[in-house]
Amino acid sequence: MMRLDKFLCETGAGTRSEVKQLLKKGLVTVNGNTEKSPDKKIDEKEDVVTLRGERLSFAAFHYYLLHKPAGVITATEDNKQETVMSLLKDVKDVSLTKLFPVGRLDKDTEGLLLITDDGDLAHRLLSPKKHVDKTYLVRLKTPIFDEDITKLEAGVDIGDETLTMPAKVKKIHGTEIELTIKEGRYHQVKRMLLAVGNEVVYLKRLSMGTLKLPADLEKGTYRPLLPEELEQLKKSGLL
Ligand code: URA
Repeated sequence: MMRLDKFLCETGAGTRSEVKQLLKKGLVTVNGNTEKSPDKKIDEKEDVVTLRGERLSFAAFHYYLLHKPAGVITATEDNKQETVMSLLKDVKDVSLTKLFPVGRLDKDTEGLLLITDDGDLAHRLLSPKKHVDKTYLVRLKTPIFDEDITKLEAGVDIGDETLTMPAKVKKIHGTEIELTIKEGRYHQVKRMLLAVGNEVVYLKRLSMGTLKLPADLEKGTYRPLLPEELEQLKKSGLL
């Protein structure tokens, strides 16, 4: 048994205060009856809870989207440096020790980072065989040439055994591009730009598969994945 407001938070309906409002507005039902009390005890495995008519199911796993700021490292713990996990210290739904970041962003890279305790999802998102698109906003030291874009899109030699897989480049202006890659090699974006004689001066991850960095998620903050984001992950066969 658990409190209804806790259940709603854990299934991604919103934060504690948002959930309170949803209940107040009469948007939540338990077993067919509108329920307004946050402290109502429910059986999370048996009771049917809906929000705006849609059933919510209790997640065995936990998923958070973090807007990583520069200056923190992507690791679960470190003796000297602040880690991304310190930004999730208010998480109450799950023990922090179970959570880990999916993939690595460099210390100076910002943007979307998924934090979860679901090892299978992490494995599928990172698997080189799944070719999950990752899109980065890249600011460059010097203006990019069209021939560099052609090279990046075809695959470049970054000193590994194989060339990088074909990528997509969207030119925003001379020194700003969006680069979409399907792999996740060490420092890949920075090395790809070095391979065409340029240099990354700012890097931000905008998306990973169907997950997008929400425009209203401030740097250094996080929120649970929304039911529709979980649904999209399911549809793309990753969850
Ligand atoms: N590529 C990089 O070079 N750095 C990152 O943080 C992510 C992708």
